[in-house]
Amino acid sequence: MVETSEDSGPAEGGMSPNRIFRRQELETLLHASQVLASSVDLTQSLQAIIAQAASISGIPVVRLFLAEEATQLLRCRIAVGLPIEDQQALTVPIGQSFSGHVAATRRPMAVADTRADPRVQHPAHAERHQLVSYLGLPVLHQDRLFGVLAFSTREPREYSESEIALLTAFAQLAAAALHHAQIHEAARSELLERRQAEAALLQREEQYRSLAENLPDAIARFDAACRRIYANRRWETDADDRPATARGENRPGLDAAGAAPWVDALRAAMRDGQVHTVEYATPASQGTEEYEARVVPERRPDGGVDTFLVIDRNITVRKRAERILAERTRQLEAVRAIGVEIARELDLKGLLDLIARHAAELLHSAASAVILWDEATQSLVPRAWHGCGEWILAMRGRLGEGLAGTVAAQRRGAVVNDYPASSYAGSSLAQTVPASAALGEPLVYQDRLLGVVILYRVQPGERFSGEDQSLLALLAGQAAIAIENARLFAELRRSYEDLERAQEQLVQTEKLRALGQMSAGMAHDLNNILAALLGQVELLRIQVSNPSAQESLAILETAARDGAHIVRRLQDFGRRKPSHPLSLVSLASVVNQALEITRPRWKNEPQRRGVVIETRVVVDHLPPVLGDDAEIREVLMNLILNAVDTMPAGGSLEITGRTIEPGADVEDGPRWVELYVADTGAGMTEEVRRRAFDPFFTTKGVHGSGLGLSVVYGIMER
Ligand SMILES: Nc1ncnc2c1ncn2[C@@H]1O[C@H](COP(=O)(O)OP(=O)(O)OP(=O)(O)O)[C@@H](O)[C@H]1O
Ligand SMILES: [Mg+2]
Repeated sequence: MVETSEDSGPAEGGMSPNRIFRRQELETLLHASQVLASSVDLTQSLQAIIAQAASISGIPVVRLFLAEEATQLLRCRIAVGLPIEDQQALTVPIGQSFSGHVAATRRPMAVADTRADPRVQHPAHAERHQLVSYLGLPVLHQDRLFGVLAFSTREPREYSESEIALLTAFAQLAAAALHHAQIHEAARSELLERRQAEAALLQREEQYRSLAENLPDAIARFDAACRRIYANRRWETDADDRPATARGENRPGLDAAGAAPWVDALRAAMRDGQVHTVEYATPASQGTEEYEARVVPERRPDGGVDTFLVIDRNITVRKRAERILAERTRQLEAVRAIGVEIARELDLKGLLDLIARHAAELLHSAASAVILWDEATQSLVPRAWHGCGEWILAMRGRLGEGLAGTVAAQRRGAVVNDYPASSYAGSSLAQTVPASAALGEPLVYQDRLLGVVILYRVQPGERFSGEDQSLLALLAGQAAIAIENARLFAELRRSYEDLERAQEQLVQTEKLRALGQMSAGMAHDLNNILAALLGQVELLRIQVSNPSAQESLAILETAARDGAHIVRRLQDFGRRKPSHPLSLVSLASVVNQALEITRPRWKNEPQRRGVVIETRVVVDHLPPVLGDDAEIREVLMNLILNAVDTMPAGGSLEITGRTIEPGADVEDGPRWVELYVADTGAGMTEEVRRRAFDPFFTTKGVHGSGLGLSVVYGIMER
């Protein structure tokens, strides 16, 4: 329903308004829709539509109010017949005044004369612009309200139905234009957004591509049939250096023979959708190269997987470094263990053997030698070796001579690779060394040269590296400390033994001296008693003729004479003989004399019992010694008699001797002669050995006096 009368009054040109409308209706709408279609600018379109509406209706003032959703206000956007500046500030709340009412009801509203109407919102404004009649039409498109199209005349005016219908078409046109513009705007901004998103996507893709292209790893994407669908630059360049099999190319599928080394990892990734890694080695132009391939399944948004990234990384350098590190760690651990072991060894010879063996094993060398510096002879002497032939014994050398001498003189390690071509190979000694490379390290303890340790490799082309040298230096440092320790320990042990021996000798000598004094006194008294006894026995033998008494007296005389013999031995023992000046004595003749004197005991008596004692005497080569021949003879006789006593069932008696050269530490000391008297008798128990030199110690009961070895000891002491 339209709030207006049917009659719209006379129009310009004298034509009936209905006829005019009908004639112009199509033209106008066509024109307006052409504007709408041709113009892209909304304001232009709206202005054209409104201008057309104004001109076709002859209504002087037409305004388009647009609804603002946020404020629920109508604001004038286009005005014809009024200065727009006046209108733009003009707002009408939806629901109030005429236009507000039209907007709220969405229906046309016509008021012929508004001047006295209380609904006028801005009466001053209406009066100023002489706005009298009012026709408002909702600007609607498909139920959507865009605003209100308001017509005003400056005098009262009725609006006919047909007029309202025509102008409503304009309002609809404006609505269509607004709708069109809105759709256009939405499409435009959507398009813009999409373009921006695409650009951003492209940029990101470019970034990822550049990342993939410039990575040091070879990267390729494969589909589930193992067809390659992408490869980065590294993958392509690697292809020049690696067999096709390693690139997963030229192969129809997973099961093809000669599949890539990571194909199992790919299969596994297909099965469980997890990342799988495999390490492999492959021949390359520069020897073998090692790779680590990572197969990464790529998930679709729905969770499925149909492509896989293969990231192939060259790990040759890393692997090599890992192996070197592991080997170095192993070697250092070995050096530590060796250090502990050699520190425990206190026997010098055993220690040097250990050092030679461990050094050779640690550094994978065929042979090694520990050569010690001998201060006395100012030479280097091999003391221990491992894996060497006898040639090492010839390796005695002076400082500065040969490899050992050079290392010792400079006190600095030396590596000699290509040993046969080195200057060390010139000497006659080196010609016997079957080495291809040698490594020497000095053994130095607190600035003191102890010796040199030398390693040899024998396979042609074998070399020693700088690491080998530093490892041996480490070992040599520990070895030097251990050698010094062992030497100190040996010295300590020697002096302790010397001390012990000296103490024993002191005790023995003291014991002999005391016993000598006692027995001398005893012998003197006993001698007197025995002399008196013998004198009386001889007197009685003259006086008595009874044969049985004579027999008793003979026994008495023998007993007294035996007693006298023992007393003489006591005197011999106790006598502090003023030592004769020593003279040169031929040991050969003294030995022969002693044997002659004792012949009845070792030859005749045993023979009578059917027993044989053989003698073996080798003394002719011995040089003369300084001594007292009577004393030496006595010593020998005692030893011979003891030997005979211990071989009642026969055996052999051996007297030999040897010359001992001056010791290594004393350049021109005296020479010594050692005499051995040995028998094949029962030998001595430990207890007897300990007490054998004690005076009166005997295991022979009444047959022995226990003074033989005491006398020997006394003489040797002197
Ligand atoms: N060659 C030997 N083999 C085994 N035991 C021996 C030997 N020489 C000495 N002995 C032991 O040492 C002890 C002491 O020897 P020593 O010569 O001092 O005295 P003796 O032979 O018993 O008596 P004496 O020499 O005064 O007649 C002997 O009793 C004997 O047990
Ligand atoms: Mg004896």
